[in-house]
Amino acid sequence: MRAITYDRFGGADVLKLTDLPTPKVGPDSVLIRVRASSVNPVDWKVREGYLAEIMDTVFPVIPGWDVAGVVEQVGLDTPEFQVGDEVFGYVRKDVVGGEVAGGTFAELVAAPVRTVARKPASWSFEEAAAAPLAGLTAYQTIRRAGVQSGHTVLVHAAAGGVGSFAVQIARSLGARVIGTASETNHDYLRSLGAEPITYGDGVGARVRALAPEGVDVVLDYVGGDALDSVTEVLREGGTVASITDARARDEFGGHYVWVRPDSADLAELARLGDTGELKPEIAEVFDLADAAGAHERSESGHVRGKVVVRVSA
Ligand SMILES: NC(=O)c1ccc[n+]([C@@H]2O[C@H](COP(=O)([O-])OP(=O)(O)OC[C@H]3O[C@@H](n4cnc5c(N)ncnc54)[C@H](OP(=O)(O)O)[C@@H]3O)[C@@H](O)[C@H]2O)c1
Repeated sequence: MRAITYDRFGGADVLKLTDLPTPKVGPDSVLIRVRASSVNPVDWKVREGYLAEIMDTVFPVIPGWDVAGVVEQVGLDTPEFQVGDEVFGYVRKDVVGGEVAGGTFAELVAAPVRTVARKPASWSFEEAAAAPLAGLTAYQTIRRAGVQSGHTVLVHAAAGGVGSFAVQIARSLGARVIGTASETNHDYLRSLGAEPITYGDGVGARVRALAPEGVDVVLDYVGGDALDSVTEVLREGGTVASITDARARDEFGGHYVWVRPDSADLAELARLGDTGELKPEIAEVFDLADAAGAHERSESGHVRGKVVVRVSA
């Protein structure tokens, strides 16, 4: 099968198109014929070696954790799926790389069933590939923070991969959403039902101008100085969740979240997809052979929604 691999940490130029044997399919895994994958910032952080202290790496590594495709072979005990099922998943394994732990920038990937769910019928494979990691991150942070109908929620980096899902999920729960983004993304945020504001100096005052009583929940999807305004914008009894800054938990008594593969949560994203409440935003689609271009686009830090990689037609 064709796959993108790298055999040392480094820049996007370490990514190469290679031929590899078909992966083995463990007893609780399914083999997926990959139609599309997508890029998450963690992919290039792993490629640079930033996660080497917390996850073992075995070279060569096939990058990519998001997948949408069709089940080609089932494992010894996988009653959840049949050959031919259209699925999507966040196929993060416990080890990065190696023959047993290949990623999704490949024509075939073996995926433990806990990482996969049925693809929503109303999404294309490319849309479905955009959703797993970022959508699960949004969904799991929103659940941990306890967002409810009637809440006012501040979403930092609301136009990004995670933020664009979070805005839609929070809106589906009946929350009012204020989202930070640069001016170029304000109309997009309005189209999702959010009230846009620019980030940077004075962001706390801009939030207070829209919500004088403060917000119930702050969701931080960018890090840096985003949490500096927490005490200024959060109302009494409100809470904060971050995916990039442990101060949310350690300093502000909220939540620091690391997304987990979860087939039930994926099924909930699919349900929201099919009701029309959740729609992945795709900034650009790259061919598998241009994986380096896809990584570089994500590294720009200003993608609206997701960068998708088309693997097969
Ligand atoms: N802990 C976890 O489980 C977990 C899971 C997923 C992601 N992450 C991390 O969370 C971060 C976001 O992930 P992502 O996939 O959403 O990234 P992304 O799609 O690359 O984010 C891009 C977005 O960030 C916005 N942005 C850039 N600087 C900003 C700022 N200072 N304030 C507000 N918005 C800003 C951009 O908006 P403009 O173009 O309008 O500037 C753009 O829409 C990454 O660091 C990623 O590694 C962690």
